[in-house]
Amino acid sequence: MIGTDVSVAASLLEQGKLVGIPTETVYGLGANALDPEAVLSIFKAKNRPSFDPLIVHISDVEWISELTTSFPEKAQLLAKAFWPGPLTLILPKSNRIPDVVTSGLPFVGIRMPRHPLTQKLLSEIDFPLAAPSANPFSYVSPTTAQHVEDQLGDRINYVLDGGPCKVGIESTIVSFEIPTEPRILRFGGLDPQRIEDLIGPIKEDVSNNSNPTAPGQLDKHYATKKSILLLDSLDELRQYDPRSYYIIGYGKPDIPLSYNLSEKTDSNEMASKLFSALRLADQASQQTIVVCRVPDTGLGRAINDRLQRAQA
Ligand code: TXA
Ligand code: MG
Repeated sequence: MIGTDVSVAASLLEQGKLVGIPTETVYGLGANALDPEAVLSIFKAKNRPSFDPLIVHISDVEWISELTTSFPEKAQLLAKAFWPGPLTLILPKSNRIPDVVTSGLPFVGIRMPRHPLTQKLLSEIDFPLAAPSANPFSYVSPTTAQHVEDQLGDRINYVLDGGPCKVGIESTIVSFEIPTEPRILRFGGLDPQRIEDLIGPIKEDVSNNSNPTAPGQLDKHYATKKSILLLDSLDELRQYDPRSYYIIGYGKPDIPLSYNLSEKTDSNEMASKLFSALRLADQASQQTIVVCRVPDTGLGRAINDRLQRAQA
């Protein structure tokens, strides 16, 4: 069921149930992060492999001292600048966090989301929320309450409707496994340039491999049901007949597009529309999706990363 009643959501969560929650990035599938049974039911509902750890959502930075054993200086700077917002920090976990949340890893991902309804919800409950994106494992993440209801409605009790997600792609993940050497594990809704402006050059570890530390790194992820052709330039779109191909582009090309992510080629706008576009493409009559890589600036790398993995 979809609704906007925060107290209904809070009371379900207190009973150990699952609730779909709006965040500024994508919708999450939330449960009490301190209750191992509740967390286990997240994995079941999503068909998510148990090796893929969950992000813990907090409403107040005071939780950090309870949930982690250290908070490196650069992590503090990032939290201060970008929380609440599309940033997840990987920090050493305290034993308050059940092992099932982190898939047995000694580190936990923590994020303070910006969406007002979820902030209200978090302030009404006295535990943090473990929440992955609210999609079946490896499908495109949901950016509306209806997306969640369509795919997981029969497995969850309530979806808190906070409207369409403003950022539209998942959080940027910065790991502090080595406290003095932060690394970006996933490009996401926070422009990496803003991170570097604040704490200096940062390493990247977003490589594809079969035993990933962040399974957002899995080659095949964010996938549509239809196959995707990923092109390097808008000009190449010209070769595809829009009657047979669902064509996703941007800018003002002189060819018809099935979906324009942003006429202004604004990476924030493109990110906010990306997952909706892929869902529409999946439902359209054309058998194949064609999409063009976007410029690497702003949220561009995060968008290109999603496109790359969607077509893998
Ligand atoms: O924006 C977001 O981050 C959304 C909203 C709901 O907050 N959540 C999200 O969760 O994207 P999920 O589970 O779909 O992706 C979280 C990623 C996974 O790839 C997971 O492997 C990684 O975060 N992650 C979580 N805890 C980790 C840890 N301790 N070490 C390394 N990676 C971790
Ligand atoms: Mg996900």
